[in-house]
Amino acid sequence: MNTVRKQLLNALIEHGEKYVSGEELSQKLNVSRTAIWKHIEELRKEGYQIEAVRKQGYRIMEEPNTLTSSTLIPHLQTNWLAQHMHVYEDVDSTQQLAHQFAQQGAANGTVILAEQQNAGKGRLGRTWFSPKGTGLWMSFVLRPELALPQVPQLTLLSSVAVLRGIKQVVDVDVQIKWPNDLLINHRKLAGILTELNAEADRVNFVILGIGINVNQKREHFPDDLLNVATSLCVETGQVINRKQLFIHIVKQWEELYELYLHKGFSPIRTLWEANSVSMGKVIKARTTNGVLEGIAQGITNEGVLLLQDSDGTIHKIYSADIETKW
Ligand code: BTN
Repeated sequence: MNTVRKQLLNALIEHGEKYVSGEELSQKLNVSRTAIWKHIEELRKEGYQIEAVRKQGYRIMEEPNTLTSSTLIPHLQTNWLAQHMHVYEDVDSTQQLAHQFAQQGAANGTVILAEQQNAGKGRLGRTWFSPKGTGLWMSFVLRPELALPQVPQLTLLSSVAVLRGIKQVVDVDVQIKWPNDLLINHRKLAGILTELNAEADRVNFVILGIGINVNQKREHFPDDLLNVATSLCVETGQVINRKQLFIHIVKQWEELYELYLHKGFSPIRTLWEANSVSMGKVIKARTTNGVLEGIAQGITNEGVLLLQDSDGTIHKIYSADIETKW
C-alpha cells in the first residue's frame, strides 16, 4: 500500500470513533485535501467503510473482512513478529512460499498469510484443507539461535500461543494433543507444522506453519474430515473475527518466545502440560516402529513424549500419531 495511504489509514484507526478533519489530515501527512479525498476513495475500494461528514471530517465505520497487510499491520501489538508480512489471496502453500522468502533472506519474524491454499501441507506428508476466507493459514520465518534438538520446543510453544490467542478472542475449551494438534471436543481445530533448514550443527531457519479452522460451517468440511475436524464457528456458533485472532496469536507467540529466551523451556513445558488432553491418560501411539500403549507421563525438555507401558517401562516417543482413550 502507498505510504501516504498507510499513514492516512493509521491516523483514521488511531482516532477510532472520532472524526478527523480533512484539514488536520492534510497537515499531518503533508499532502493536499484533494489528495486525502482520493486516498479515502481508494481505501473505500479496498473495502473500508469510511464516513465523511461536512465540517467534521472522516471516520472508519467498518474495516474489510479480508486479511491484508494494510488491515492487519495497524493493529499489531508486537515488536518484531509479523512486522514484515506478505498476504496472498490464493497460494499453493504458505509453507512453501515462506521457504522461498527465507532463502532470499527474509527477516526473522516475517509472516506469510493466505486466504486460501490449494496444496496446504500437513504433518507426515498429509494435505491440509484450507478453503478460502474461512481460516488462518500462515507460516512464520524464524531465525532462532537454537541447537537442533531444541527446535521441537518451538512447536510446543506454538500450540500454547495459539491456544492462548484463541482464548482471548472467544471463550472456548481448547486442548492440546501431542505434539501439535489443538482440539475442541476431541476434534481437530488447528495444526502446527515445523520445518527446518539446517546444517549438521546449525539452524539456518525454521518455517513454522499454523493452520486454524475458524469460520467453516460443518457442511464445508469434506466427508473424510467431518468427524475428525472442527472450527471455532462450529463449536461456538459465532462468526469469529480472523483479524482479531491473528493479532492475539502473534502477540501471544512473541510474548511466549521472549519468556522462552529468558527463562528456558521449563515455563513453556508447564503451560503445555497444563493444557494437554493426554497427560496422565492412557494413550495409543502409532509410531513407524509399531503401536505402543500406556500412560502419557509428560514431555521432556526436548519436547519428546514419555509413555509408560504396563510393565512400567518408559518409552520416548519422537514422532507418532496419538489416540487418547477417553
Ligand atoms: C498438521 O498436520 O497438523 C499441521 C498442519 C499445518 C497447516 C498449516 S496451514 C499454513 C501452513 N501452510 C501449509 O501448507 N501448512 C501449514
